[in-house]
Amino acid sequence: MPLTMVSASSPAKAILFGEHAVVYGLPALAVSLDRRLEMTVHPSEVWTVDGAPLESRKHRYIRWGAENLWDGGPLNISTRSSIPSASGLGSSAALCCSLISCFLEMRGAMSPEELARKAFEVEYNVQGKASPTDTSCCTHGSAVLVSPDRRDDHLWSISKEERTWHVHHVPLPPMELVVGYTRTPSVTTVMVAKVRDYYQRSGFARETIEEIGQLTMAGLEALKKGDLVEVGALMDRNQALLSILGVSTKELKKLLDAAAPHSYGVKITGAGGGGSMIALTDRPELVEQAIMRIGGTPYRVRPSNTGTTVGP
Ligand code: PMV
Repeated sequence: MPLTMVSASSPAKAILFGEHAVVYGLPALAVSLDRRLEMTVHPSEVWTVDGAPLESRKHRYIRWGAENLWDGGPLNISTRSSIPSASGLGSSAALCCSLISCFLEMRGAMSPEELARKAFEVEYNVQGKASPTDTSCCTHGSAVLVSPDRRDDHLWSISKEERTWHVHHVPLPPMELVVGYTRTPSVTTVMVAKVRDYYQRSGFARETIEEIGQLTMAGLEALKKGDLVEVGALMDRNQALLSILGVSTKELKKLLDAAAPHSYGVKITGAGGGGSMIALTDRPELVEQAIMRIGGTPYRVRPSNTGTTVGP
């Protein structure tokens, strides 16, 4: 019997290493966070989102998913989220994963691999250029390594045009993170285009991106050993390289500088140009206070083992 109502829940994410480099086929490592987007879906006379009609500009992800990945009638969609949007915390991936898992569940066809693939399709088509990092991390929970080669703990592989990304489970040591949100939106498409322009023009940019890929693999080893001091040092180095790529801003730098004295390491998370930074720390209260003092919004978070869940 077809389900008449389903609910899904998807986590936020932070990128610990490798944003931007992953667009060029290099590795990235992302971690799910304990903030979530909840969605409830049931059949309706007309498409609605949170009580308002579905709009093509406002609800771009839902619209694309509905037109391309749903074969049934109109749905009433309600969302509730503790993930700030355009903050670099993967709110669009959480929206895509919740939506697609509801579609799959209503058809009795939910599988994490299918979900990761289809949620990526939505992000890719709406954003232009995207890697499957956010959507795979959100689907799986815990942490994932997205890499050009297939390794141990392989979950699934996703291909688009000339690239294949292999997605792997990464076990994480206990850790605390503080996100510092600049309150300025980060527009992923704009920042990806900016870096692409630099990448195409400059050998130095290409070397910088290669180095980010190497740092990501070093970060993976440090995480596996539970060596947070080393993880932090590598995050700092990753941040220096992201600054060279031009994705840091004055506001982000202020938050990074405020958090650094109380942290193992600090860096932007996500596309940059606004959005958020993350601090790996064992003194989260001090980092929160430092971020608040200079006008940022802190979110104290921990990795979450729970990826997207869905059910009646
Ligand atoms: O800012 P976010 O959460 O959309 O993350 C973007 C990460 C990039 O590597 C810049 C792009 C991508 O799709 O991987």
